[in-house]
Amino acid sequence: MNDLAGTFRARKSAGEKIAALTAYDYPTARLVDEAGADLILVGDSLGMVVLGYPDTTAVTLDDMIRHTGAVGRGVKNAVIVTDLPIDTYRTPDEAVTNARRLIAAGAQAVKLEGGAALAPQIRALVTAGIPVLAHIGMLPQHIREEGGYKVKGRTAEEAEAIRHDAAAVQEAGAFAVVMEIIIPGLAAEITADLQIPTIGIGSGEGCDGQILVLHDLVGLYPWFKPKFAKQRADTASAITAAVREYAAAVHGDTGMTPP
Ligand code: KIV
Repeated sequence: MNDLAGTFRARKSAGEKIAALTAYDYPTARLVDEAGADLILVGDSLGMVVLGYPDTTAVTLDDMIRHTGAVGRGVKNAVIVTDLPIDTYRTPDEAVTNARRLIAAGAQAVKLEGGAALAPQIRALVTAGIPVLAHIGMLPQHIREEGGYKVKGRTAEEAEAIRHDAAAVQEAGAFAVVMEIIIPGLAAEITADLQIPTIGIGSGEGCDGQILVLHDLVGLYPWFKPKFAKQRADTASAITAAVREYAAAVHGDTGMTPP
């Protein structure tokens, strides 16, 4: 068992919750780290909230490498995990080759989306010394086949498949598992069954930790607000107000102090 796996299991045994957030660049990563996040995910959600695509499916390995480097330069304490983007882990060998590039860029671990079907990739990564954060439930890289962000685990078959995925990723060696928009009762039961920590997003309070997209937490992406994410700041409004004031001052509007 690598260090990260031991540390995360110990945290779970001690009942210590994990506060995780995404970050994609130097200033936000540094702020998030200095404010006390335990884990920073360089998520492929950057495709939407940083690069302006409609979903994560256009994100490339080079995008993730560049942003991992920026995050790495800002972080001193948190564990940095980077997403392997879509179509970069179709086989165990491909997963290891591409994950090594993310580790070289500054990640300490990688995340990939999928359950039992990805057990060979997870096993190969862990054998190669690369810690893996698994991701089950709603899988954003499959949004086009899924036809939207849908809550997972409503039917008995779906709940059983998610339980199977959770057990399989643990067995394959993942150090923790993200559970995305799984019905809260099921997420809590899986959390109780697993030895590795579960990190929920939109899956209720019964998980061992929580993760959010930073932009949802601080109100920096006002065009789409997931229902489950509690916005704790209004950064978009602060930016708009500052820019309006600056523009008015430069334009010489009466009563405004020039910059
Ligand atoms: O890419 C991402 O930000 C994620 C989180 C939503 C878990 O995968």
